[in-house]
Amino acid sequence: MIQLTRAYFFSASHRLHVPQFSDEKNQALFGKCNNPHGHGHNYRVEICVKGEIDPMSGRVVDLAAMDSLVNDRVVKYFDHKYINQDMPEFKTLVATTEVLGEVIHERLSTVWPKDFPTLDKVGIQETKRNRFTIPSSK
Ligand code: NI
Repeated sequence: MIQLTRAYFFSASHRLHVPQFSDEKNQALFGKCNNPHGHGHNYRVEICVKGEIDPMSGRVVDLAAMDSLVNDRVVKYFDHKYINQDMPEFKTLVATTEVLGEVIHERLSTVWPKDFPTLDKVGIQETKRNRFTIPSSK
């Protein structure tokens, strides 16, 4: 069993804000990330798959096919968007990196082709200091 982790990148803006909380509580909880007009990040998303090496191609996955899927479902979907307002999922979700990672995992797992290796986990970094990992089996 071989694992492959492939990185993808997009830029988007967000605001951390819980509508049910007061402005003061949001400010205390999220600080500058609660800025009313949002702020941007260069997100790094890591897609980790695992499977057997195909005896004919010698590869674990068709990278072009995987890139096409991830670009359509994730990169083009989120790139240069204001996550809070442009993405229907986030009308009711807080736009933290961990929630964004779960949404990305869901957007991939629901269409993941049967002939692809297993989608093992999704990693997401908003800054260099944190990486959240969303495993397929919880
Ligand atoms: Ni932020």
